[in-house]
Parts: sequence; structure tokens; C-alpha cells
Amino acid sequence: MLPVFVREGLTAPRAIDSLPGVSQHTLESLAGVIDEAAAAGIGGIMLFAVPEVRDATGTAACDAHGILNLAIEKAVQASAGRLVVMADLCLDEFTDHGHCGVLAADGTVDNDATLTVYASMALAQARAGAEVLGLSGMMDGQTAVVREALDAEGFTSVSIFAYSAKYASVAYGPFRDAVESDLQGDRRAYQMDPANRREGLVESTLDEAEGADIVMVKPALPYLDVLADVAAASAVPVAAYHVSGEYSQIEAAAQRGWIDRRAAHLEAVTSIARAGADIVLTYAAVEVATWLKEDM
Ligand code: PBG
Repeated sequence: MLPVFVREGLTAPRAIDSLPGVSQHTLESLAGVIDEAAAAGIGGIMLFAVPEVRDATGTAACDAHGILNLAIEKAVQASAGRLVVMADLCLDEFTDHGHCGVLAADGTVDNDATLTVYASMALAQARAGAEVLGLSGMMDGQTAVVREALDAEGFTSVSIFAYSAKYASVAYGPFRDAVESDLQGDRRAYQMDPANRREGLVESTLDEAEGADIVMVKPALPYLDVLADVAAASAVPVAAYHVSGEYSQIEAAAQRGWIDRRAAHLEAVTSIARAGADIVLTYAAVEVATWLKEDM
């Protein structure tokens, strides 16, 4: 699967410096990405959007005319069933403080107030046509709340892709450039402590029980032990996200001639699959799919 960024207010795609080869797209250039991805034979795209205006509660996320919901509509149209269109369900791209949820009076993230916003964001995405919702905010109970909201409105076949074991990693740095997020503080109150292995299984088991159709471990390579644990125990498909910082480490070394780019990406994806992932998200998805076909 390929993560794709759409930026409001752009007139042409704009390269992301810290993610070589990856761009912010316009609503118009999105169709070309989908054609390329479908031609390469990848399974789906995960849409992230960058709004022009942010506020404390991330209002644009729930607005039918917000950039992410418009991008979903465009993508579903352009894909015409050739690949699965998934959308990121999280507030960090939409809040001015950069957190994945709304804040309580004391400045901490308010878990349960955030769940209410996630439920309306989920409905906005489902109405826009999203086939799968990627719940990446790491609020407790988010899978259950979103499942209930979707079912109540008749969206029973919209699936939930739960970012279950999401660690508070340094490897999200380039992504925050890609979405122009200026995070105040850090996410350690809701993302997981990298030292905790068993907690990964606790989180994925909870999401499964709450109705997740797919569970994910993220980042990927530094957490292959967690991925193997989750893959061994899970009754639903398991995904892993080779995140921005993992991708950019390969790109930076390859640019200096210190590593073979193609071999490095293929080894990364192979290792993630070996550890038990059924689905891999990588910024190199289109190339990896092409290389795999060539190698066959
Ligand atoms: C949150 C989200 C993040 C990523 C995916 N979804 C950022 C974060 O948690 O800080 C990171 C993905 C990557 O680094 O490639 N909406």
C-alpha cells in the first residue's frame, strides 16, 4: 500500500525535501498517482491531507468540503475499483497544536472528547466514499466508537484499519514535514513506549475485540518482534508501516552511494513480510511492486 499526501491550495505537486521521491499532490494530480499505483498492481492507497487552515479542534476534518474528504471522493472516482481507497482518521493534520486529538483545559489530550470528533470524522469519510478508515490517533476505545458510529448510519461494510501498536517513534519526523505539522510537545501520552513489547499485543487484541478488520504495527523494522507477536496471535490481517523516517534513512544513504537503494527497499519489505505482515505500507510501494514483477 502506498501512502499519498494531498495538499490544499497547491497548483502543482510539491516535492517533500525530507522524503525524496515523494510529493504533496493536488486534487488534480491525485488521479495520475492512482493510475500509476493501479498499473503497478499495488493493493491500495492511504490518503493523508494537508489543510490550509487549522484550528484547536480540527474542524476541517469533519467538513464534507475539507481537503481530505474531497480527496477521498476524487480518489474513489479515479480508482474506479482498481485499488482500495483508505483514509487516515486522525486529527494531527487538522489541529493547530499538532496533537492527534482535542485538548483538555490543562493542555493534555482529552481522550474521550476526541472519540466524539473521530466518530463524526469517520462518518464524513464514509460519506465521501472511503472504503477503509485508518485509525491512527491511538485514543483508547477509538475502534469501538468508530465501528458503532459507522454501523448506526448504515456504513456496515466500511472497514476499520487500526493502527494498533503505534510506538512513539523518532521515525515520524519526515512525515511531520510532509503534513506541515508543528507538534507542540510529544505524543508519549497516547503512543506507546518503545521499550514495551507485550503492550503491542495488548493493543492489537483490544482493537480486534472492538471490531478492527485489520491491525497494524508501526514503525516496522525496529518493531519486527512486536509484529511477529501480533501476527502469531491475530485472527485478522496484520499490516506494518515502513514509516517516513525508515524510508528516508534508505534514501539518504543511497543518495550518498552508501547503500543499494533497490536492494535495501526490497530487503526491508521482505523482512516485514517474513515477520508476518500481510500488508505493507511503504512510500516505495509503486517501485517495489514494479521491481518484484521484474525479478519474477
Ligand atoms: C498520525 C500519523 C502519523 C504517521 C501516520 N499517521 C504521525 C504521527 O503519529 O506523529 C506517520 C507515518 C510516517 O512517519 O510515515 N496521523
